[in-house]
Amino acid sequence: MRVAREGNSWTKSALLRWVAVAVLALGVFSPKTRAQVKALDAEGHQWWQHAVFYEIYPRSFADSNNDGIGDLNGITSKLDYLKALGVDAIWITPCYPSPQVDFGYDVSDYENIDPMYGTLQDFDRLESEAQKRGIRIIMDFVMNHSSDQHAWFKESRSSRENPKRDWYIWRDGKGPNQPPNNWLSTFGGPAWKFDPTTGQWYYHYFYVEQPDLNWRNPDVEKAMFDVTRWWYKRGVAGFRLDAVDTLFEDPNLHDNPVLPGKNKYADPNTQEVYNKKLPELHGVLQRLRQVADESDAVLIGETWTKDIDELKQYYGEHSDELQMPMDFLFARVDKLSPSAFRKQIAGVNSAGWPVYVLSNHDIERAYVRYGDGVHNDAIAKVMAGLYLTLRGTPIMYYGEEIGMTNNNPQRKEDVKDPIGKVGWPEEKGRDGERTPMQWNDTANAGFSKAAPWLPVPPSYKTHSVTDELKDADSILNFYKRVLAVRHNEPALAEGEYIALNESDPNVLSYLRRYKNEAVLVVLNMSGSEQEASFDLSSQGFSSPTASTLVTTLTTHPRQMSLSSMPLDAFSVYIGKISK
Ligand code: NOJ
Ligand code: CA
Repeated sequence: MRVAREGNSWTKSALLRWVAVAVLALGVFSPKTRAQVKALDAEGHQWWQHAVFYEIYPRSFADSNNDGIGDLNGITSKLDYLKALGVDAIWITPCYPSPQVDFGYDVSDYENIDPMYGTLQDFDRLESEAQKRGIRIIMDFVMNHSSDQHAWFKESRSSRENPKRDWYIWRDGKGPNQPPNNWLSTFGGPAWKFDPTTGQWYYHYFYVEQPDLNWRNPDVEKAMFDVTRWWYKRGVAGFRLDAVDTLFEDPNLHDNPVLPGKNKYADPNTQEVYNKKLPELHGVLQRLRQVADESDAVLIGETWTKDIDELKQYYGEHSDELQMPMDFLFARVDKLSPSAFRKQIAGVNSAGWPVYVLSNHDIERAYVRYGDGVHNDAIAKVMAGLYLTLRGTPIMYYGEEIGMTNNNPQRKEDVKDPIGKVGWPEEKGRDGERTPMQWNDTANAGFSKAAPWLPVPPSYKTHSVTDELKDADSILNFYKRVLAVRHNEPALAEGEYIALNESDPNVLSYLRRYKNEAVLVVLNMSGSEQEASFDLSSQGFSSPTASTLVTTLTTHPRQMSLSSMPLDAFSVYIGKISK
């Protein structure tokens, strides 16, 4: 049980609220399964429901040995920064041995650390230093495919009789030089590669160097589940599951329906009905969850869903699959539209415990997606004021807290991400959102003494940790204040979400209500001044004012009248309401 650990960022009052109720889960008891011991708070919430998560792309966070590539010791050196920021768990994208074709998402050994990132001893030190500070570590679990350099695949491709042959998906072609069917790789071209050694084709939904594992083979399931057990023993608190949508394919290899037009790789558009979101994947997630529950671990899903109903399925019919499927529909709102956010928030609230993400290593940074080019800093605070105060768990992306921008390559020859090379110029790849963390305004933004693997954008001169720590009005200090309030206010941890003034086209406002207290969040998403007013008597609050917790309003009011609240353009007001 890992609740009240030394140095945890929970305040004393929050800790006291955390009634550690050891619940012997009503799950399956067998000699192999330890009784699940979960710490629940008074509302039945678990640790990951109150934690703030932070995604680290290890290549780009901090470079301790000055080779231009970030590493684990770099992350360890920044734990105090993360702790002071208010982070409770870090998700590290793959740092396993890998040929780096897909920058780590092509794993050649699931139980080790790539030398460019350090050693297992470095990992253990990171884990123990993180634990001292109450920060949990989440690893990335690349389940759908391995690298073609993994020992399993090398064996598999060596002969048709090899015991590992069926660990991957091998088929005969339709004819000479004809793949088994019309399935396409999401990274361009056919999803099949002919292998002359055995005269068959193997399936790869991603790059050629990322052959799909055959999850219909129980040996694959066992080996992969054992990988998670191995990391739980090392202290990790959960996994972010990569590409869960594509774990299974139709064994009969039906062609996908072809749609009109071409995609950005000039391949025909198809409807991926036979190689995506097959029902079998839910069985795997349920069994993987049982393994996770033995260690009170969390499973976070890379779940690309077309609507709330699809998202709902990932929680499991009996809440027995993913605790935290990411809601990318929220990240796709892509405009400062109170009505669009209201709709999305209500939807995900009805589906399960919400998981909010603004951007990640595959999605253009929120700073540019929402920014209007003039008020980007103010808008970045509005977005922080939103997703850090909603009911649910936020996952931050490194650098978001300082307003890092995208730095897209300008020329094809500068592109590092292979999908940018294949899809140029329509698809520029994902380098732009993966640039080095901007620690200060010295050379290479203080990330490394060597030239970094990706160039730092000019914005490091204005947006860096060191500079922003000195500026009370910086994005970074705003994040810190909001996260501190989030950790201190029971209403933000436990409270229900109540939408307010739902027909206001400019101002998104809501109440987080818990027992006798509530936190009011008011976000002016428009570029003009607005006036909001609230009557909270029907919510059981008759006080005419709110006590300010955090605001970007230039007047910095200590108390705010609820009947007439003047709001600056792109502003945030967060206040406490008592009965
Ligand atoms: C999703 C990861 O986030 C992305 O970066 C990667 O390229 C694909 N899965 C393939 O693993
Ligand atoms: Ca390094």
